[in-house]
Amino acid sequence: MRILVTYASKYGATGGIAERIARTLDAAGHATTVRPVQDGDDLGGYDAYVIGSAVYLGKWLSGARKVVRGNAAALAGKPVWLFSSGPLDVAAAEAAKRKQLAEAAPKQIAELADEITPRGHRVFSGALDAARLKRLDRMVRVLPGGKALLPDGDFRDWSDIDDWAMEIALELDEQPAKAFPNNR
Ligand SMILES: Cc1cc2nc3c(=O)[nH]c(=O)nc-3n(C[C@H](O)[C@H](O)[C@H](O)COP(=O)(O)O)c2cc1C
Repeated sequence: MRILVTYASKYGATGGIAERIARTLDAAGHATTVRPVQDGDDLGGYDAYVIGSAVYLGKWLSGARKVVRGNAAALAGKPVWLFSSGPLDVAAAEAAKRKQLAEAAPKQIAELADEITPRGHRVFSGALDAARLKRLDRMVRVLPGGKALLPDGDFRDWSDIDDWAMEIALELDEQPAKAFPNNR
C-alpha cells in the first residue's frame, strides 16, 4: 500500500517520531512517504495515512489541523491514524495511553475525529531542547521566578512508537481479507 506519514513539528521531535513510524511501515513492505505538512497540502494519492502533530498549550499545531480539515473528504474514506507528540515524561504518556481518546487527546482531536473517523489516535511522549526554544516558547516554559514548567530532555519511547506502527501495518495487512470476505 502507498502510505503517507505527515506531521507538524516546531523543533523536530515530532518529525523524528514520524520518520520512525515510516521506517517500520516501510520495513513491513509498504511504499511509505514521510513529509512535514504544508499549507494547501493535497493529500490525495495514498491508500492510508498517519498524521501527527506536536502539542503546544493543549493544541495541535495549526498546520496539522488545517491539513486534516482541508482534506477531510479524501481522508474520510481511507484508513487514517493520528498521533500527538506532547507530554514530557513517560509517566504522563503512559497515563494518556490508558485513557480513552476524548480525555487524553488535545481537544481538537475529537472534532477532527468527527470529520474523518480515524482508526486510532495515540499520544506519545515528546522531547524538548531548552537551548533551542524560540523566545515565546522559552517564556511559556519558565515561570517569572525561573522555575521550569516543562522538563528538558528526550522522552520519546521508541519501542512504544514501533509497537504502534506495527499495529498499523498488521491492520493494513488485514484490509484485503476484510474487503473480500469470501477470499480464502
Ligand atoms: C511552550 C511549550 C508548550 C508546550 N505545551 C504542551 C502541552 O500543552 N501539552 C503537551 O503534552 N506538551 C506540551 N509541550 C511539549 C511539546 O509538545 C513537546 O516538546 C513536543 O515533543 C515538541 O515537538 P516538536 O519538537 O515536534 O515541536 C510544550 C512545549 C513547549 C516548549
